[in-house]
Amino acid sequence: MTVRLVPFSEGDLPLVEQWLSAPHVRERWGDPEENLESLCLALPSGYWRAIIEADGRKVGLVLWQHPTREELDVAGLADIPASVIDIDIMIGERGAVGRGIGSSAIRMVAEQALADVSVPFLIGCAAPDNLASQRAFAKAGFQRDREFDDVPNGIHVLMVRHRQAESKE
Ligand SMILES: CC(C)(COP(=O)(O)OP(=O)(O)OC[C@H]1O[C@@H](n2cnc3c(N)ncnc32)[C@H](O)[C@@H]1OP(=O)(O)O)[C@@H](O)C(=O)NCCC(=O)NCCS
Repeated sequence: MTVRLVPFSEGDLPLVEQWLSAPHVRERWGDPEENLESLCLALPSGYWRAIIEADGRKVGLVLWQHPTREELDVAGLADIPASVIDIDIMIGERGAVGRGIGSSAIRMVAEQALADVSVPFLIGCAAPDNLASQRAFAKAGFQRDREFDDVPNGIHVLMVRHRQAESKE
């Protein structure tokens, strides 16, 4: 299977809206309308996003950004610098879940993000019961670091990918 990251455009919004409403995404991403609204806004600097394509078909979305100092402090992550990059992902097409696409996309974003030498390491967050997400990050070279309180979303697992990570296939 060929997985590629392609630029996100306004024309993708109807598809993304469908994905956000799909029960398996809604369960993890929360309110579809709120998410769609934020995706309609122009991207501030320090934020990136891409559509995930598998064998030429659009199947998901990945976002990556520098967290703010405030967000990290509120979550009790005072030791994490705001120069890290945080990755959010969804495979919106239900039939495309569990086929290695999410971990490939995370790995691609990780390589792109770490090409910037000022980024010390990467982070991803998953609910403690979201084992598919934790496993997808692990396959892309992330390790479980700790649990933290992702206010107001509750306890989450912090996954970290250091520069010299090995992928766990
Ligand atoms: C999380 C997500 C992005 C992962 O993408 P994906 O393409 O399904 O991931 P992959 O197929 O690369 O890897 C998933 C791994 O989790 C494993 N897995 C799936 N469900 C699992 C479970 N309940 N318990 C343990 N492992 C599980 C799969 O077997 C696979 O591991 P393997 O290849 O070693 O068998 C995708 O499932 C998704 O979009 N889910 C809904 C939204 C979401 O949870 N986003 C992340 C929010 S933090």
